[in-house]
Amino acid sequence: MVYPDFSNGVKEVDLGPKDSFTKFPVEVEVEGFDFFLAQGKDGVLRLMSSLCPHSWGTVYLEDTCFMCPSHGWRFEYYTGNCINGPIAQMFTFEVTDRDGHLYASLPEGKK
Ligand code: FES
Repeated sequence: MVYPDFSNGVKEVDLGPKDSFTKFPVEVEVEGFDFFLAQGKDGVLRLMSSLCPHSWGTVYLEDTCFMCPSHGWRFEYYTGNCINGPIAQMFTFEVTDRDGHLYASLPEGKK
């Protein structure tokens, strides 16, 4: 399993005004990659990659969870934790609400 590489630091990405999101989870595109913006029962916002942590399938939004069609792993809406397989979690990134504007902290990438 490959994890996001934060060794080159973190960059903050502007997701837009919080008011522009009327429901969670919602699909969002960030720098050409697909993510889900989700809000936990605790109110915490998280950005989750649509890349499956098992073997890079594409996770999609179902009625009650996230689903990867490649091997059937399902992930809980609020945390991205796998609910029908081994201990695993969708790649999840911190989201900050600053003055009503949302920012995600993503790996800087290779330099
Ligand atoms: S790649 Fe997603 S369950 Fe295997």
